[in-house]
Amino acid sequence: MSLHRLLFNPFLFMIILTTTLTLNSLLIVESSSNKKPASGPEINVTKYLSFPNFSTSQDITLLGSAAISTENNCIQIPENNLQYSAGRAIYSSPIRLFDPKTQTAASFTTTFSFQIQNPENDAGPISGGLSFVIVPDELTVGRPGPWLGMMNDACEDEYKVVAVEFDTRMNPEFGDLNDNHVGINLGSIVSTKSINVSDFGVYLNDGKVHRAWIIYDGLMKLFEIYIGPDGILPARAVYSGNLDLSPYLNEYMFVGFSGSTGNNHTEVHTVCSWNFTSVSRASLRVPSTETCESKIIVANGGNNIHVVPSKTPTSFYIFVAVVVLVFIIMINLYLNRKRKDENYSDETASFTKEKHRPAPPNYRARKFNFSEISSATRAFGELQVLGSDTRSVTYKGTLVNGCNVAVKRFYSKFFSSRGSERRRLIKEVKLVGKIRHPNIVPIRGWSFDRQETIVVYNFAPNGSLDKWLLGFGVLPWTRRFKVVKDVAEALSYLHSKELAHKNVKASSVFLDISFRALVGDFGFVLSSMESTRFESLVSQKVDVFEFGVLVLEVVSGRARRSGPGEMDLLDLAWAMHVGGEKGKLVDRRMGPVVNPDQANRALEVGLMCTLNDNKGRPTMEEVVEYLNFEKPVPELPRTRPVSLFPYSSTTGLCSGYSCSFK
Ligand SMILES: *[C@@H]1O[C@H](CO)[C@@H](O)[C@H](O)[C@H]1NC(C)=O
Ligand SMILES: *[C@@H]1O[C@H](CO)[C@@H](O)[C@H](O)[C@H]1NC(C)=O
Repeated sequence: MSLHRLLFNPFLFMIILTTTLTLNSLLIVESSSNKKPASGPEINVTKYLSFPNFSTSQDITLLGSAAISTENNCIQIPENNLQYSAGRAIYSSPIRLFDPKTQTAASFTTTFSFQIQNPENDAGPISGGLSFVIVPDELTVGRPGPWLGMMNDACEDEYKVVAVEFDTRMNPEFGDLNDNHVGINLGSIVSTKSINVSDFGVYLNDGKVHRAWIIYDGLMKLFEIYIGPDGILPARAVYSGNLDLSPYLNEYMFVGFSGSTGNNHTEVHTVCSWNFTSVSRASLRVPSTETCESKIIVANGGNNIHVVPSKTPTSFYIFVAVVVLVFIIMINLYLNRKRKDENYSDETASFTKEKHRPAPPNYRARKFNFSEISSATRAFGELQVLGSDTRSVTYKGTLVNGCNVAVKRFYSKFFSSRGSERRRLIKEVKLVGKIRHPNIVPIRGWSFDRQETIVVYNFAPNGSLDKWLLGFGVLPWTRRFKVVKDVAEALSYLHSKELAHKNVKASSVFLDISFRALVGDFGFVLSSMESTRFESLVSQKVDVFEFGVLVLEVVSGRARRSGPGEMDLLDLAWAMHVGGEKGKLVDRRMGPVVNPDQANRALEVGLMCTLNDNKGRPTMEEVVEYLNFEKPVPELPRTRPVSLFPYSSTTGLCSGYSCSFK
């Protein structure tokens, strides 16, 4: 019985999760009662939005009857004088407006110019209203009529909203003063504060351009509203008073405008310019000095059972939780063994093995029309380019359903003289399209219309490994080791399906939000290969070789060929190994927080993968075992293997094995 099976039994997993959560929450209670600082220094999170107009505002989400008028580049609610309609125009990204740690609201200042008009100078009754809103989502259109598009259909009590309404209709049922008032609404359509703006000489629906300023100080809890003609901040606030917004805010909220029109009445609300600035206090979350190595090893399905905290337990409860956990594991071990004995078969065993990781998305890869891809990538616009190589250009695209994708378009000239190669590629894309593995970027589909050769992948928002390794900051050791293991798992799985990746390198490995590594950007065909049989023989071995290089890059934190005058990383690694000092390869920027056993194992695996194939290069399956410490690594040769590293920089695909055939 392996620990993975145990851990990834969904039922057991839930129990472990629950127990772990209990344990964690106990820990939190513990630490807060000890008044230990749980986080780093205080910082200010600021956000600044500025829209002089809305002409090219892709950042504004329009909902319901809201539109951006092409005539004057203003937000207009409603479009086409609709009666009894509601609309919202919301800034598309959430903004941090509340600090959960200190329970304080952010401070913000916003100003916008607006106009409320009677359409076509119709003398009929006009009514409705506009509001500046802070809402929990960017997907809801509020209710029309007196609800001002501000409140949605959910139970009011639970819908967090802060709004300032500019209301031109009197709704006595909502406690309105008159048909020319400004209200402050906190979680309710009934205004908490309501101001007769006629007293200030402001007539909201006079068709003139007004400007409003809304200023909130989250620390002093001071709320101010000014309204005046466009341009000058009036001396006197229409409202200035103490209000606590914090009960009505989530940590992240969306800001924008909503408006509505009533039954048999209409009016047009326009917002032509808008600035918004917010500052919220936050505590910087710094990496803790304790490492969670043992937990990571267990979560990866390794065989180390160091679940018990190695530090002295901080409370009796943790001890109890651990005992319960161990007890559950043992019961499950027993039950599982029984089940296994009862109906053992190879098929079920391998099936559960595949299921033991987080479930990948279950949509099917499909054919795309060329026009669909063209519109998703804005006709392969230059601004959409994510990267390119000798054979293809990759674009970022957005499908009609809003999903972001990476679109890899092969140059048609690449295949023009090689019809058979394109057919092979098409076959392979469809095969790989069926693969779903938690460490493989899923292929969403393809398009082979009009001699185009296009593969569509899921878009990886966190970018590729090379950026993390050689670009921003320093990737810590636990993450690096996990990346190496994730990539090994992915390649081992592909090879078990008699497929190969053929383009293993740091820029083909992507990291998701939880730093899980996913292998994408398949090579599909090796351009240097003439026959299919030869290719399938060679390509898995090439994958192993390139994986070895990748491991050395990850451990050392440098690219294989970093610059003129610098030694090739492979030469360097072998030279250091021969000199008995390969430990010096480990990226020093990581400091002392490196697990030496793991680092040594990774280096050994990296070197072994770059051996000549007939001199002991392992399979990916073996590599996974070595990295999980399930098997000892065989002794590496003490001398540097000869003629190891011919490498064609033009194809980028020829490696130790394939080149040695030439
Ligand atoms: C954050 O902003 C407040 C008020 O604007 C200021 O008093 C404080 O010093 C700032 N804190 C930091 C860490 O910049
Ligand atoms: C609002 O103010 C105007 C002008 O000062 C006044 O005539 C009107 O009576 C006020 N309305 C209410 C409901 O107080």
